[in-house]
Amino acid sequence: MTQPDYERLSRQLEALLDQRDWLVNAAQTCAFIMQQIPQLNWVGFYLQRQPELLTLGPFQGKPACNPIPFHKGVCGAAARSRQTQRIGDVHAIAEHIACDAESNAELVVPVMRGESLWGVLDLDSPQRERFTTQDQAGIEGLVSVFTAASELPDFLNQDR
Ligand code: SME
Repeated sequence: MTQPDYERLSRQLEALLDQRDWLVNAAQTCAFIMQQIPQLNWVGFYLQRQPELLTLGPFQGKPACNPIPFHKGVCGAAARSRQTQRIGDVHAIAEHIACDAESNAELVVPVMRGESLWGVLDLDSPQRERFTTQDQAGIEGLVSVFTAASELPDFLNQDR
């Protein structure tokens, strides 16, 4: 499989996110990643709209698990640690939550709003070891494009 050209994808996503509405931009970002990056079966946002709870946001793929508390799942681990979780084989991870039986590898990137965790972006693949360190850096870059382009509401203090 050829490695996606993440620099080009970043420029394309920047051009696509041409206004500040976070909901539009989150929906477009998931659709863009699903279209442009091979071997994915699910891409979506979970949002911290209540303290330490991840609520399903815009996504592409099958209907998914909702909600996910911070103490559960690979998504919860990313939210707690604020570190990207790159999992080669989800079946080897005790706390993994299986939403779609097709998923074998997972990449979860924290989405920050200033100092606080706003949500996570979750990518699933049927291909074990699908995500390389280059994919991790590339997807983290696309998340930065999303956060720079968007007016992110402060769910925990207002706009819930
Ligand atoms: N597998 C995730 C749950 C979300 S789905 O993959 C869409 C987890 O363990 O947190």
